[in-house]
Amino acid sequence: MSQSFYPSQLIDRFGRKVDYLRISITDRCDFRCVYCMAEDMTFLPRAQILSLEEIHQLAIAFAELGVTKIRITGGEPLVRKGALELLEKLGQIESLNELVLTTNGSQLASTAQALKKAGVKRINISLDTLDADKFKAITRTGDLQQVLSGIAAAKSAKFERLKINSVILKNRNHHEVCGLVQFAVDNEIDISFIEEMPLGIINEHNRGAAYYSSNEIRSDLAKRFQLIASIEKTGGPSNYFKVADSSTRVGFISPHSENFCHTCNRVRLTAEGRLLLCLGNEHSVDLKHIIRSHPGNSAILKKSIIDSMQIKPEKHEFKLHEQPVILRHMNMTGG
Ligand code: GTP
Ligand code: 5AD
Ligand code: SF4
Repeated sequence: MSQSFYPSQLIDRFGRKVDYLRISITDRCDFRCVYCMAEDMTFLPRAQILSLEEIHQLAIAFAELGVTKIRITGGEPLVRKGALELLEKLGQIESLNELVLTTNGSQLASTAQALKKAGVKRINISLDTLDADKFKAITRTGDLQQVLSGIAAAKSAKFERLKINSVILKNRNHHEVCGLVQFAVDNEIDISFIEEMPLGIINEHNRGAAYYSSNEIRSDLAKRFQLIASIEKTGGPSNYFKVADSSTRVGFISPHSENFCHTCNRVRLTAEGRLLLCLGNEHSVDLKHIIRSHPGNSAILKKSIIDSMQIKPEKHEFKLHEQPVILRHMNMTGG
């Protein structure tokens, strides 16, 4: 069958166009953030995860189906051997407008320049606190100074934009929202505040009790900053505000208080090659099985991807005050 038979766009049952693919290239991470992982985690054995060549092959298929933005995530993507070489290859896919990365920042000091050279346009870096002890407590293993050096290196490498991601937990780091915005303003970068999502069982805190809404953050910020509503979008779920007299945008990712699923334009590929059609549901297609049983057959692969749009759910149903329904931790998808 000729390739032109297939549509070059991915459209789901609700008419949403999918042009954004998030790829988790490893479930491993050098941090153990309390909202993301349990303290004791078992990671996937090597044979179970996609090879870098398989990821490249899948990315090409998605690009041929109209995906123009790819975000590489983890776990922590930069702990995977060969991550830079993969990014270089992805950077050569001509129809991609945006190759972007989400990272915890731990390896950026040594990799920022090479990432820029590979064609990475924007980087989102997780940073929940500017207090070294709290940083250690939230990440369990992380070192604040290492991440701050990483952010500085990324700044020097002059990406199109850098964004901080902060997951805000009540009585943990909610007092720091103004300090974090000031840090973003001083560094001329953006910041998004994220409401914690109930993915995977964690015992470290009670997610319901730790909920701190985007509205609460916005009113805390209003005491110190003038936030001007903006219609700018990055193709992600953030609603942005501009901080007056600065180049910084403050985004709010509010899965609980402001559902954004009707604008969903993305799907996710897990490290083990499962195409996940929604972060908050388990609907998925095993693309690893398809490429391993039909090596080199891009027509079968693309047909499976097109067909998968039929099972993309309408929305997530997160219930913060109950045990999580989705047992997958965030490190499987990188958000
Ligand atoms: P840009 O807008 O491109 O900068 O990216 P982003 O903010 O979407 O990506 P990032 O990897 O930085 O993710 C930030 C947060 O948004 C993470 O906590 C993700 O889990 C969350 N997020 C991204 N996409 C979705 C989504 O489709 N549904 C939900 N519920 N959360 C999402
Ligand atoms: N809820 C919301 N955000 C989360 N992240 C990790 N786990 C969760 C969760 N349970 C964030 C990380 C990172 C982004 C990709 O997802 O802090 O910034
Ligand atoms: Fe690692 Fe990111 Fe999960 Fe933290 S949130 S443990 S940095 S994958």
